[in-house]
Amino acid sequence: MNNKLIIFDTTLRDGEQSPGAAMTKEKKIRVAKQLEKLGVDVIEAGFAAASPGDFEAIRAVAETVKDSTICSLARANERDVRAAGEAIQPAQHKRIHTFIATSPIHMQHKLRMSEDEVVERAVQAVKWALEYTDDVEFSAEDAVRSEMDFLVRVFDAVIKAGAKTLNVPDTVGYSIPLLWGERFKQLIATVPNSDKVIWSTHCHNDLGMASANSLAAVMNGARQVECTINGLGERAGNAALEEIVMAVKTRRDVFNLEMRIDATQIVPTSKLVSQITGYPIQPNKAVVGANAFSHESGIHQDGVLKHRETYEIMRAEDVGWNANKLTLGKLSGRNALRQRFQELNINFDSEEAFVAAFQRFKELADRKHEIFDEDLQAIANEEPVANVSEHYQLVSMRAHSETGSLPQAKVVLSISDVQHEAEAEGGGPVDATFKAIEQVVQSGTELLLYSVNNITSGTDAQGEVTVRVAKGGRIVNGQGADTDIVVASAKAYLNALNKLHVGMERAHPQV
Ligand code: KIV
Ligand code: ZN
Repeated sequence: MNNKLIIFDTTLRDGEQSPGAAMTKEKKIRVAKQLEKLGVDVIEAGFAAASPGDFEAIRAVAETVKDSTICSLARANERDVRAAGEAIQPAQHKRIHTFIATSPIHMQHKLRMSEDEVVERAVQAVKWALEYTDDVEFSAEDAVRSEMDFLVRVFDAVIKAGAKTLNVPDTVGYSIPLLWGERFKQLIATVPNSDKVIWSTHCHNDLGMASANSLAAVMNGARQVECTINGLGERAGNAALEEIVMAVKTRRDVFNLEMRIDATQIVPTSKLVSQITGYPIQPNKAVVGANAFSHESGIHQDGVLKHRETYEIMRAEDVGWNANKLTLGKLSGRNALRQRFQELNINFDSEEAFVAAFQRFKELADRKHEIFDEDLQAIANEEPVANVSEHYQLVSMRAHSETGSLPQAKVVLSISDVQHEAEAEGGGPVDATFKAIEQVVQSGTELLLYSVNNITSGTDAQGEVTVRVAKGGRIVNGQGADTDIVVASAKAYLNALNKLHVGMERAHPQV
């Protein structure tokens, strides 16, 4: 059997389906370039039919990335498939991933289609897709709850129609490793010509078993794993790329499979995705969490000092820890900054935008001695992009807190070049600041999440604040970074309000 494992990354599609994680074109390009550097085989760049913005973003990724295959998702209908085909058209290696649900519950209640109709649509979608590329993937959505006989029938039909990759999703994260492995074994043994295609696994993490299920599929013949950086994705997320890759590498004795991945790019990719989406990484997250390689107990520390392998099965440096380069300082000039931005795949739309970033860098360097790559990523994240114009701008603010008195904040905002100010009291300085902003903006949004993370270590580190707000059924994440976390909070809140103001309407593929 083939010993190559294909890593299919869907951070930019399934990952982007996490609440508030929608990415702009510019941010998708940055993530895609980093995924290419990481060595992923296939990048699912989005769902082209979702919105004109999604279409443009996939196209831009297809124009930029050379080494990875660029894929767009498409429901099994002509409009979606043609949108996908056109969006990926500039790519050197292109794939269309079309899907339809095959479980009784989805066919009856969501699609309201019979089995015959589903098979017919699946076959037709594969044929439309083949007009654009011969690399066509078919997914049987909710395969986990589909009947085996029907799955075999659908997969047989799409192989005959020309699909090259057959994806078996656990859409609702319901399986357990033993059963998921069995499912692959049975499918591969039963579907005619199963050896002519690549079998792929796509697992969600609702019961915390996405990575384990994916690996069970691999042990039973799957040769493509669909996964996301940091396990980002719908609800509890998808199988985490870093877990799959490091399990396959670390347990080579079990898997004996080859991958193209450069594991030293795992941590930089994880940090980039976290910063861009505003989804912090839990400290105890496998491989990429801040504690993943730190030993707290004396016995463990003693063991590691005597012989590292007593308590470590992987080396931190092999997955890219310690790669956070001390980049620049107060005296660094424009050329040094420009070069480092380029090395980090950060491009600015105009010289004016770069000069503004240089200005932000200088301001930061005045407050913080050492500037790391993560700080530069945060500076770039503040870059207003074409479709998220800064309708609300922070001109200045002051927050005051003192033991025994109510915290107060004053903000000055600029809206369409007119300045507005407001003062408010709150439970803490952040609460007071948000209330003052709200007095001016009167957005009526509901705050769903507020979180602060330090971007690098040390008390002078920038705090990166993520807020998630909801209004009228829309959810957006806003981010802001600053060495002053109250200022970072104000920036994050305004960033979210600006996104809501612009409105990035898109369809959801599975609704
Ligand atoms: O979870 C799922 O079933 C999906 C499909 C579209 C592959 O994301
Ligand atoms: Zn999914």
